This record gives sequence, structure tokens and C-alpha cells, in this order.
Amino acid sequence: MSDSTDKGLEVDYTVDGAISEMGMSLEEVTNELDSRAAMDTTFDGGMIFNTECCDPYPLALKAHKMFMNRNMMKEQNQSVKGMEIEVIQMLSSVFGANDHSGHNGYVASCGTEANIVAFWAAKRKNPGRNKVIVPSHAHYAKIKLESILGLEVQQVPVGKDFKLDINLIEKLIDENTLGIIATTGTSLLGIIDPISELAKLKQKYDIHLHVDAAYGGFLIPFLRYKGYDLPDIGFKAGADSITLDPHKLGLCPLGAGVILFSDSSYIDAISYMADFPKFKSITLQGSRSGGPIASTWAMLKHLGMEGYGRLAQSHMEKVDYFMQKLKGLPEITYATKPTLTVLGLMYKGDDSMTSELHQYLTSKGFKITPGNDPCILRIIMHHHVKYNHIDNLFKHIKAGVAQLNNKYKRVAI
Ligand SMILES: Cc1ncc(COP(=O)(O)O)c(C=O)c1O
Repeated sequence: MSDSTDKGLEVDYTVDGAISEMGMSLEEVTNELDSRAAMDTTFDGGMIFNTECCDPYPLALKAHKMFMNRNMMKEQNQSVKGMEIEVIQMLSSVFGANDHSGHNGYVASCGTEANIVAFWAAKRKNPGRNKVIVPSHAHYAKIKLESILGLEVQQVPVGKDFKLDINLIEKLIDENTLGIIATTGTSLLGIIDPISELAKLKQKYDIHLHVDAAYGGFLIPFLRYKGYDLPDIGFKAGADSITLDPHKLGLCPLGAGVILFSDSSYIDAISYMADFPKFKSITLQGSRSGGPIASTWAMLKHLGMEGYGRLAQSHMEKVDYFMQKLKGLPEITYATKPTLTVLGLMYKGDDSMTSELHQYLTSKGFKITPGNDPCILRIIMHHHVKYNHIDNLFKHIKAGVAQLNNKYKRVAI
């Protein structure tokens, strides 16, 4: 039994949920499943603007279903083992690794696992070092490095402009520094940390540079391919390891992350021969579904550079479209100029008004996750967002702004 009151859940989990003796009929359970599913806002409803994930691409779903119960631990599942090597080879070529073996990474369950594995391997290769420098806008899983790997996480505040202070970072580096996390597409605003500058520190002090591209990894290289002026975030730019999330902008079903290393020595560092069953363990997970591997493989094979490039471009066009519309609403400004597919909106000069605007939009059913201190309306333009959804959101933002102006007797700007 758990307390549901603080979570806003509609199911009363305080009733005793003990297993029944005789079970329920198929029909009863199916009906119950349907009604549980109906509680959630769906991606096609036009109200979800707070997620980097969406319904999977049909091919990805098909591939996932075909292989989801092939366990990667078992030697009989050669099909999916081959696919994993090809996934790592394909992504290694996208991110410019010199290692083409396909053994310099693996398909993990999510970005968080990939981030943890990056430092697990780095630590195994540099056992004497214990500190990781982490800009404060890095994904919240940074704290898990401390409790899981026993590393000392040194958080570095980012400036009011959301940029890193490289000098501040350099001052923290000493002989115990294991590495730095750079984020290329922060969760809140899509900020791309300066990999080339961090790579200079990596060179100078011989430390590990991990690039968390869970959000930007399926955008940045493909937008670059389409001619967008974005930085290289890969191995040639200085990364030692990269986190990717096919289950976000790769359009795969949930459960697909990737850890990619510059070479296979990192995987060797975390590998060992298990005693029973006798096999070489190369991953954090034990039993590992073939589904995420097959879906990632199918999507990379099908879309290629051009397909993912067009997809990424289509998200960026929605950002441009929304920004054009917002020009007609001078009360609204941006926390920072959008570089990827996230917009951080604020009511000009008034934090509490931004917060009230968020409450207004929430009351209308929009799913928008605000950033705190200052309050920022983080709006993500993803695959499921259609142009009429953007029009509808804009209409409601406009109405919310008018209501606030009226409430506080502000003259519309
Ligand atoms: C930048 C960044 N890193 C890591 C993660 C964690 O990914 P996952 O939720 O797949 O564990 C996220 C998720 O939102 C993210 O945005």
C-alpha cells in the first residue's frame, strides 16, 4: 500500500491491493487495463509539450515486438547480437569514433544507465581518481553517480545566461578528478555545452570527457548533416564516451538507451567472465531484452542520415513556426534563444506571472513542465506535435496573457 495523496493520482492506492486468490477473468482484466490507459493524456491529443519521448515509429514498434523476448544473455540469440554490433558501428560512424569493431558500446535501457556506465568504465580504467565535475544543468541522475559509484560529484553552477564558466571548472580540477560531464541538449533548455573548450581541459589534465547527448544525440549530428550551424559533439571533438537515447528522438519504444565509447577498452574494463552461466558479462543489466536493440537497428537502417536529418529538421521548423507566432505576443520572452527543439518561455520580467501562466495552461489540460527559479515554461516540439497543436497552444497562451494583464491591470505591451 502506498500513499497516493501527494502524487495527484486518480487511483486510490490506499485500498488493499493484495493478490486475489482466484484471479480475474481475461475480460475483467482487459477492461481494467483499458480504463487505466484512458487515465493518461495521449500523444495524439495535442496537449503534450513536456516530453522528449513519444509514440514509437511503427517500424520501431514492430522490430521491438519481434525481438523483445530474446534475452541478450543467451548464446542462442545470435540475430540480435549481430544487430547490436551493427547499431554500435552505425552510431560510431555518426559520432566519428575510430573504433569500428562494434564492441565499443552497447544498447542500454535508458540514458541514465548509459551515464552511469560511462563513469563506471572510466573509474575502472582510472581507479585512483574519484571526483566528477558536473555543471548544475546536467540531468538530475548526476547524483546517482555518488550513491551508486561512490564518486564525489562536484556541481558547478551555470551562469544566468545558462552558460558554463570554463575557468570555474578548471579551478576544480586536481589529481583526483576522474572526469567532466558535458550535456549536449540540456533537459530544460536544450543548451549545448562547449565540447571543444571542455576537450582542451580533458587534454591538459588527462581526464575523461563524457558527453550526455540523451536529448541532443538524435538531433545535432543529423542537423549538421542537413547544414545547420551546430558544433561537433562527437569523438573527433574530444568525447571519450557518449550517451544516446533512441527512445527519445530516435522514435524507438521506451527502454532504448546507448552508451558509446571512443574504443572498446572501456567495455573491456567493465567486462568479466560470469561463473554461472559461463558467459562474458559486458553490461550493467543481467537479462537484457533484444527489443530496444532491434528497434534501434531498424530505425538507423531505415532512416539513415537523410531520414533522421529530415526528421530533426521537421522539429526545428515547428520551433521556427512557433517563434514566428510568439512575435505577436510581446509579453512573452525566452530564457535563452532556442538552439534545439526546446523553447523556454517566460512572461517578460515577471517570474510569478510566468508561474500563473503555467497554472492557466495546466488548467486547460496542457502538459508543460516548468523550470524553477526562474520559472520557465519549457515547451518541446517533438514528432507528435502537429501545427494545429501549436496554433491551439498559442491561442491559449494568448488568452492566458490577456487574462493576467486584466487581473493585474497591466496594459498589453
Ligand atoms: C540530457 C539528459 N540526460 C539524461 C537523461 C536521462 O534519460 P533517461 O530518462 O532515458 O534515463 C535525460 C532525460 O530526460 C536527459 O534529458
